[in-house]
Amino acid sequence: MRQHSNCVGEMTIIVLSLLLALCYASPRQERRFPDDFLFGAATASYQIEGGWNADGKGENIWDRMTHTNPDVIKDKSNGDKAANSYNNYARDVEMMRELGLNAYRFSISWARILPNGLANQINEPGVEFYNNYINEMLKYNITPMVTLYHWDLPQKIQDLGGFLSPLFPEWFEDYARIVFQRFGDRVKHWITFNEPCEICFEGYGSSAKAPILNATDVGTYMCAKQLVIAHARAYHAYDKDYRSDQGGVCGITISVNWYGPLTDSEEDKFAAEILRQAKWGIYAEPIFSEQGGFPKEFVERVAKNSEEQGYPRSRMPEFSPEEIELVRGSADFFGVNHYTAVLISATEHKHWFPVSSLYADADVGMYTLPEWASSASDWLTFAPNSLLNSLSHLRNKYKDAVFYITENGWSQAGAGLEDDDRISYYRSALNNVLDSLEAGIKLKGYMAWSLLDNFEWMQGYTERFGLYEVDFESSEKTRTPRKSAFIYKEIIRSRTIDPEYEPPTRTMWIDEGH
Ligand SMILES: *[C@@H]1O[C@H](CO)[C@@H](O)[C@H](O)[C@H]1NC(C)=O
Repeated sequence: MRQHSNCVGEMTIIVLSLLLALCYASPRQERRFPDDFLFGAATASYQIEGGWNADGKGENIWDRMTHTNPDVIKDKSNGDKAANSYNNYARDVEMMRELGLNAYRFSISWARILPNGLANQINEPGVEFYNNYINEMLKYNITPMVTLYHWDLPQKIQDLGGFLSPLFPEWFEDYARIVFQRFGDRVKHWITFNEPCEICFEGYGSSAKAPILNATDVGTYMCAKQLVIAHARAYHAYDKDYRSDQGGVCGITISVNWYGPLTDSEEDKFAAEILRQAKWGIYAEPIFSEQGGFPKEFVERVAKNSEEQGYPRSRMPEFSPEEIELVRGSADFFGVNHYTAVLISATEHKHWFPVSSLYADADVGMYTLPEWASSASDWLTFAPNSLLNSLSHLRNKYKDAVFYITENGWSQAGAGLEDDDRISYYRSALNNVLDSLEAGIKLKGYMAWSLLDNFEWMQGYTERFGLYEVDFESSEKTRTPRKSAFIYKEIIRSRTIDPEYEPPTRTMWIDEGH
């Protein structure tokens, strides 16, 4: 008996070894990205352009905050010069060509086009800058994907109340119409807002971004309502007055990190759902859900808390039936900025938050597993399958939606060209993109964050996300490809992910980039 079972064991090992050998010897079963899948990279105006007051540009809320209150930025820096893309735009496009990008996502600085935010005065040199940038991309078949608003609100609009003013949707529509008019003959992919949660919660409901209003009780929710209405007005302006001639699409980009339950308990599942509603549902549900309006469970939660806290009405405003109809369905695609995951508990890992605030309303605990690798950013860990989990969840919720990954990337502390952590992160995320495509999710493109190192908001230049390193000390703001640039280039070229691909040698991959 004993001998017999040993023999079976040995046979099993031999068969397994043979199978393994076959797997490695034969070409790997190829998982390919479709030919029309758009690979790109993303940036934002304030983070790269510099030229903060060049040629008639107006002041924005980041200019104002960094100039009057530099201590809020980790290294007391600002975006006055940044990577100087205002002058280096041709080099930026050259980098896109080096990478073989199909698309490039960038944002327009509202105050560069309309110096005081209102639509009475157009700054032509600002228009010309974006014309040059766009035309240079089109020369090389690179599809521009344009964000109308990536956080750099004209200061004048802020002085009038910013996103909290009931007139904000009108001002935004005026600006959007000018942008569609001037660039829509060539730009076919429009994104109204980048990351509403970071605009409303971080800018108005806390002090994590300009204009650091810290109106913790109502700031987020008032902003949320005005933002989705402004989005809808820009969308309908495009749909009615520009789409038939220009033939493009218009969507919105929302940050969707994965918030999953810490345990399988019903309480933890509900806690995760409440946080999803608080962080991105209040922007996505009004636009993408069938019924429209803010998400139900979170609305009930905020109403109940407000009453207990002595507010005469809920701190979360309501939509009129007309507003619900205006906003519902007002997007051709859902842009997803995705980076990481957090595990959510109803009872464990809770922190203190101001008594009337978004996190106090959500009232959940948040936890990241110790084995998830850390980046240079405290909010960004490498959580396996977070991208697939997010997209699967969104697809189940918003059945017909078309998606683009409009940001995804990894930060390092300071300079350094050999970025193997970033390479592992990108390979894993792009494998999740293939998994999503195989699962039938309508995902049309992927924009890596970021093309180049840039001003990382409150972290200044201390956290770097670039495929290209930027020497911010040099007057030329010299750009040098990191190792990840060559890995991404090979993925785009081959439309596959070869986990063993290595750029030939360090000197060769650096030389090749110039
Ligand atoms: C923001 O407001 C809360 C109270 O709602 C307060 O506890 C907190 O200290 C404020 N933060 C800053 C940076 O002023």
